[in-house]
Order: sequence, then structure tokens, then C-alpha cells
Amino acid sequence: MRPARQALAALAVLALITGALGFKEHEFKKCKTASFCDRNRGQARGGTYRVDPASLALSGPELRAALLNSAAPGVALNLTLRAYGGGVVRLIVDEPGAGRYHVPDILLPDLESRAEDWQAAASDRGAWRASAGPAAVELSFSPFKLTLSVGGAPAAVVNSRSLFGFEHRRNKTDSDPAGWWDETFLSHPDSKPRGPEAISLDLAFPGAARVYGIPERATNLALAPTAGAEPYRLYNLDVFEYLEHSPFGLYGSIPFMLAHRAGLTVGAFWLNAAEMFVDLETTRAGPATQWVAESGALDLFLLPGPGPADVAAQYAALTGPTAMPQMFAIGYHQCRWNYKDEADVAEVDAGFDDHAIPYDVIWLDIEHTVGKRYMTWDSSLFPDPKKMQDDVASRGRKMVTIVDPHVKRDAGYPIHKEASEKGYYVRNKDGREFDGWCWPGSSSYLDVTNPEVRSWWAQQFALDKYQGSTPNLYIWNDMNEPSVFNGPEVTMPKDALHHGDWEHRDIHNIFGYYYHLATSEGLALRGRAVHGSDGDRPFVLSRAFFAGTQRVGPIWTGDNAAQWSHLKVSIPMLLTLGVTGLPYSGADVGGFFGNPDVELLTRWYQVGAYYPFFRGHAHLETQRREPWLFGDDATARIRAAIRGRYALLPYMYTLFRHANLTGAPVMRPLWYEFPSNAAVFEEEAAFMLGPALLVAPVLAAGVDHVDAPLPRESQWYESVSGQAMRAAPPAAGADQAVRVGVHMEGIPVFYRGGHIVPRRDRPRRSTAQQARDPFTLVVALDWEGSAKGDLYVDDGRSFAFRRGIYAHRSFEFEGGRLRCAAATAAAGAPPGRLSTDLAIERIVVLGLPQGREWEAILTPAAGKPRRLPAARGGADAGLDPKQGAAVVVRAGRVPVGADWEIEFREAGPARS
Ligand code: GLC
Repeated sequence: MRPARQALAALAVLALITGALGFKEHEFKKCKTASFCDRNRGQARGGTYRVDPASLALSGPELRAALLNSAAPGVALNLTLRAYGGGVVRLIVDEPGAGRYHVPDILLPDLESRAEDWQAAASDRGAWRASAGPAAVELSFSPFKLTLSVGGAPAAVVNSRSLFGFEHRRNKTDSDPAGWWDETFLSHPDSKPRGPEAISLDLAFPGAARVYGIPERATNLALAPTAGAEPYRLYNLDVFEYLEHSPFGLYGSIPFMLAHRAGLTVGAFWLNAAEMFVDLETTRAGPATQWVAESGALDLFLLPGPGPADVAAQYAALTGPTAMPQMFAIGYHQCRWNYKDEADVAEVDAGFDDHAIPYDVIWLDIEHTVGKRYMTWDSSLFPDPKKMQDDVASRGRKMVTIVDPHVKRDAGYPIHKEASEKGYYVRNKDGREFDGWCWPGSSSYLDVTNPEVRSWWAQQFALDKYQGSTPNLYIWNDMNEPSVFNGPEVTMPKDALHHGDWEHRDIHNIFGYYYHLATSEGLALRGRAVHGSDGDRPFVLSRAFFAGTQRVGPIWTGDNAAQWSHLKVSIPMLLTLGVTGLPYSGADVGGFFGNPDVELLTRWYQVGAYYPFFRGHAHLETQRREPWLFGDDATARIRAAIRGRYALLPYMYTLFRHANLTGAPVMRPLWYEFPSNAAVFEEEAAFMLGPALLVAPVLAAGVDHVDAPLPRESQWYESVSGQAMRAAPPAAGADQAVRVGVHMEGIPVFYRGGHIVPRRDRPRRSTAQQARDPFTLVVALDWEGSAKGDLYVDDGRSFAFRRGIYAHRSFEFEGGRLRCAAATAAAGAPPGRLSTDLAIERIVVLGLPQGREWEAILTPAAGKPRRLPAARGGADAGLDPKQGAAVVVRAGRVPVGADWEIEFREAGPARS
């Protein structure tokens, strides 16, 4: 590296470390400075597209046709239309012989076997029509237009505004406009040997009220129109000190959008890994979008819904549902850049026990290595890493180390030596190893698009390869966008070359996914080596992501800041990830950059306790902020927030099982649960945790009340007092917000009437210590006196659940009786056959008529009925006894695994 560049890179590193410089907008491209976006935005390239009716060929689930362009008479594009179960429709447009990139390894391998024949296909001179499940499709010939109708009305229309464009293969001429064959951004040239190859997709959602999705960016949940502003960008980037409320693309991309109105939710997923810009316009007919991708093919899936959960399931049927996490992984994680040495780790670990705060995992950032050579240990700081891990594990806890995709170019570093000798690195356009600047200095990047490289990389996690690792060590993949400090926009040049000579341009947005996948496969291999065929579910946190990442592991929202605005925007960011199929996600609690004051930190823990992934993390230069460093009051409040999380883990684990089966999000927007209630379509402060809990967080300093938007469709119970919020269903049109006073002890959380929430209320050090604990059931009755819920349990660790070694129980309260039975096995899952001896120790019923004494009679499936002690109040259930809102049954040990019924009988008027 030349000295000038070296100095520059050093400055960049310094800026990253000190956090002194802030977001630099000019370092990132905008539509104007990205030739492919600039030349396609808002305009149709070339002429009109039409389908040649003579070319139509239908074979079972597949229709083929030629798509012609009036401006390029010699070019015929291949159009393919396929139908899958549930009315999912796939439109592929490609140019024969042009050798465009089709994204592999994202769609489930058995997808094609789920293709279904088109029904009632017919065509006339103007269009071809057919139906697929609940959806009907019309392919109009001239101009080309594809309409997906649901319930008889158009719901998604391709090319309604004639903005479709496909830049076909061509030879270079002297009169070609600037930007077609090369362009330079700042000082970074991009040679474009294939010339212009962008695709413009015009997609409208007639009748929709809002659109959501296309993460990742720090902005609102309901996407705002982009007229007069920047389009939304999908390009995985390491954006230093990102701003809240910005269309800028951050670390990951999921080209999946949902359009919603009361009565219908539909989805659109474009499987393409190149840079993409998306414009949104609100037309009289509804939202209209234009998506422009720099290269690749058009491979578009339209998902007909009709409900939000249907769209989630349809998307999961394409790209896979969420991997089932281990129980520890949804506990609390303690991270910082950096826990300095073994003594520091021991002290922090002991600090949690000394302050009776549960936690499960302690993390080590880049400073634990020898000069950022990952999978090494700085022996002056970590002389005995195995002993350290064993010690942490002796209390049932785990550790995580960071492993980034840049490899230090040091011949003495075995990973580099071997990768280089084997030709496993990404190459420059001239074929030499790509050399970029990252944490270790001069670095190369494993070409994880190559399956051979991925399998080699996976083997590096074997216990005998990764020296100093133990089976209790899990992994964090950072910087995998990939981040290249001296590259264009802090990433790799687009003309760098990958396996099969594909340009980085084509694969950019899946690079991070592949790296994450290979690492996770490494932990899966290790798990089988250590534990046998049921293995050990991998835990690998990633920063970059793509569609499909949900099958691999969690992500977090990167380098946020210790500001109220970042706490606030974390909610729409995570909600967006939830509805785009990536529910296992979280934001750094406390904010990565800067020092939160005690109020912000406390509030952040109170909100973060409901994030699907819950980790405190902080920048190297920040002050220490372990939960007990802010005085006794703050310690008590943070303890309560984290304990609150642990109490909800049975419910959350059950939600994760649903995500694992059906793709349902864990943390959900209100509109997902109340899809007909237009008043919540833009709600992005309050959110649902599963179907049963509504969290109304405090997102500003000095707040003394919150207006909780409690959808009128449900009864709600304040979770601390158990108090019912409404005596009767409010009239349509009535304001739904309920003003509740707040204090620093917690944020308002509500149980939703009609739902049953399993909890574990005994305070413990970690999930391992909870494993045998009995449960509390909170039964929150609706206005009719009914409620439903379920509880999923397995070993919390291995893949044995895939063989049916799990118990999934359902609870139903109706007509004064609570019944426990086996939950119906989900389609495709083996029936549960784990005979668990776990028990329920307490049942809290919210919403039984006031002013009565109750008795509870347990009738087991086999055996005699017996009376359980029942009482009003509920101090022992964590409820305020003065409120008297709950009937609490001390159940002793009612088995979770057996069928039974408990009858609640009025025993007379309440004794005062
Ligand atoms: C990146 C990560 C951050 C980490 C740091 C050092 O900035 O986003 O979480 O602490 O790198 O590894």
C-alpha cells in the first residue's frame, strides 16, 4: 500500500474508532450518481414491450412466451410464468444467451416440486388468463402487463405505468451514453465489461393503503412516497453513524414488499442480489412502485395473501422459515467492544450474579485476537480461553467470539496461507487476489459464493482447528456486507470477480448471507461432531443479510447511537424485518456510539427486553455500562426489565417455534394482528409480541404518560395490575388510545383478551437454570370469557425436535373451563412425542367477573378431581394484590404433558 493511501486508511480507521466524524452522505451514491438508476428512474427505457401471442406455450404449471420490445426488434426476451400452492405466482424475464445471474441457494430446494398446474387457462387476442388457487392472473399482450387479482379485484399489477425496461445485451459503440460501459464514483472507477444491464420493474398495488418492507434502512414502518426525494436503496453497506429516518440502504437487503389494506395483504419478492433502487408513488389507484436493479434477471414472486399471516407463510414457503434458536440464544447477551481480558470476563460474569441479573452469553469483540487474525487469541490477555469458557459454562452460560470475513494478508497466518494457496479469495478484475483495507489492515476476502470455499470455511470451526474454542463458544459475523474501508462506498468494487467469473455487481447483496451460512454450517458440523446426529443448533449473529438469512441465524441493526431517536427507530426497523421474513433480530441496547444517560439506558432495556434478539453492546471508546454501574435504582429497574424478559421466555420460545413452522414474525406491527383497523396501519411505536402482548414503549426523556393505542377489537389488561382497560367493546370510530401514566419502573405492556401466555416467574441466573422450572399461565379473557394459547417445549438445544422430540400443548378457556391438550401438529412437522414432566404451578385468570369468590376444580384425564387453592389478588403472580383484578390459582404441579381440565366455579360473593 502506498503511504498516502495508508495514511488515508489509517484516518478512516481512526474515524471509525473515535466516532468523531459522523455520517458522510457524500461518500455514498444516490440515484443521480448511479448511472443505472439515473437513466431508468421514472422513465421507460427503450420502447413498448409486448407479448407475442403466437409464442405462448403452456405446460402444466408453466407458461412460456416471448416478450418483444419495439425499440429492439432483434431481441426476444423469455417470459415464464409459474404457479405454486396457495396462488403464489412467479414471473421470470430473462434474455436468452445473455448469461445473466440467477440467484442460487435462496429458494427452498423443493420449491419446483410444489408448482401447481394453472387452472382454467384461456386466451384471446388481448390476453392470457388463468387462475392459481385463490389468485387469478391476466397476462395482457400489448402492452405487456401482468395482473394478479385476489377476490376478483386487481391486487398487484406489473407494468401498469409502462415503466418496465430490460437493458438487453449489446456491443459497445462510440455513441453510447456516458455511464454505460464505465463510471467513476469519487475516485473509484467501475469498469463495466458487460455494459448496461439494468432491469426496471413497474409494480402497482391497486387499492392498497400502505406498503411496508424492503429493509434495511432506519426509517418509518409504512414507507413514505419518494417523489422529490431519494428512492429506497437496497445495497448492503457499512454506513458509519447512520441517520435515523433515511432511505439509505444499510447492512442488509430483502427485496420483499408488502401492500396492505383492510381485508387484503399481498407481497412481492424480487429475487435479485444486485444493487437496487425502489421508488414509491401514491397514485389515485393506490401505491405504485418502480424497482431498478443494476443487473441479474427479473425473478418476481407475487404472494396473494389474503391476510398478513398468509403472506408470511407464502414467503416462508419460498425462502424458508426461521431457524429454531437454542433457548440460551433468546436470553440476554452482554457484549462490548471489548471485554479486555479473562479477568474482565470473570468480573462481568460475576457482576450479573452479584446483582441477581439473569444473562446467558458474554461476547468478545475484535480485540481478543492477535492483530485481528480471527480464530486466534491474544495470549497476553486470554492465556487460557478454554478454561475461561469452561468457567462461564459451569454456570450454564455461553460465550461468543467475533469472526469477520476479511482475512489478514499475513503469510504466517495459517488461514490466509491456505486460502491463498487454494485460490479461495475474491479476485480483482485482472484476476489477482483482491486486497482491501479493514480492521487487520491489508486483507483478502474469502469467496464464499464458491461452495468449496464455504465447506472449507465451515471446517475451520472444528474444535481441533479453532484452537482455544469449546462447544460452548458461538460466533458473531460482522463486516460481511462486505465492509472494505478503502473501497467504493466502503465495500468491494463491483468489477471484482467471484466463483464462475461472476462480477461482485451481481452477487453483492448475498455475499454476507453466504458468509453467515458457511459459518453456521461450521457450527452445525461441530455440533454433530460433539453431540452426535441430533447436533447443536448453531448460533451465528450476522450484520449483513439477504432473503433467506432467517434460515441461518439472527441479525442486528448495526452501529446505532445512544440517542432517543435511535431507540425509537429501532422499533420500525425490527418490525420491518419481522414482516419481511427475518424475525430474529435486535438492535444494540443502549446504543453503540456514545454514552447513554441512565434514563435512556433504562428505557432501552425496558424496550429491548421485547426485541427478539436482546443484546447490550457498546463502542470501544464508550464508558463502561454494565447494568449495575448506574446506581441502585437503575440496577433494580434494569434487573426488572431483564427478569421480565426471562419470565416471558416460554412464550417467546413458543413464538419462535411458530416462526420456525410458518414464518410468522415474533415482534409484530399492530396492523399484522389488527389488519382491518386502519388507525394502526402506521403505528410504529407500540408493537405486538406475538398475538398476545402489546408493548407501548417510552421513547423520549421525561415522559409521564403514554397514549397506548389499544385496538378496539380486543379487551386489554395492564400487565402489572391485571386491570381490564375497557368495560365493554368501544364503538367503532371511538378513539383507541388509552392514556396511561408511566414511571421509571417499567413501560406499559398489555395482555390481549382472548390469549393465554405461558411464563416462568422464578428469578434465575440464566436459561439453563430455568429449564426445569414450573410455569405460570396468564389467561386473559376476551369479552365473551374465552382465551387460547399454547406452549412449546423441547430440549432447547439440539435438532431432536425435528424427530418429534418436543411437546406442543394447547390451552383453551371457555365456559369457565380451562383445558389442556396436545396442540395439532403443524403441517410437515412430525407429531410431538416428548413426554415432559414439566408442570404448571400457577394460573392467573384476568377478566372473571369481579366481586365473587372462586374455586377451581382440576379434573385430570385419568384420576379423581381435586380442588386447587384459588384466590383473588395475585401478589405471588407479580400482580398488584390491591387491584384484585385476577383470580390466581396455586396449581401445585399440574402436568404440562397430560390432558386435563380445570373448572372455575363461583363460590359466592367475595368476603371483604
Ligand atoms: C462494527 C460492528 C460493531 C463492532 C465493531 C468492532 O462496527 O458493527 O458491533 O463492535 O465493528 O468489531
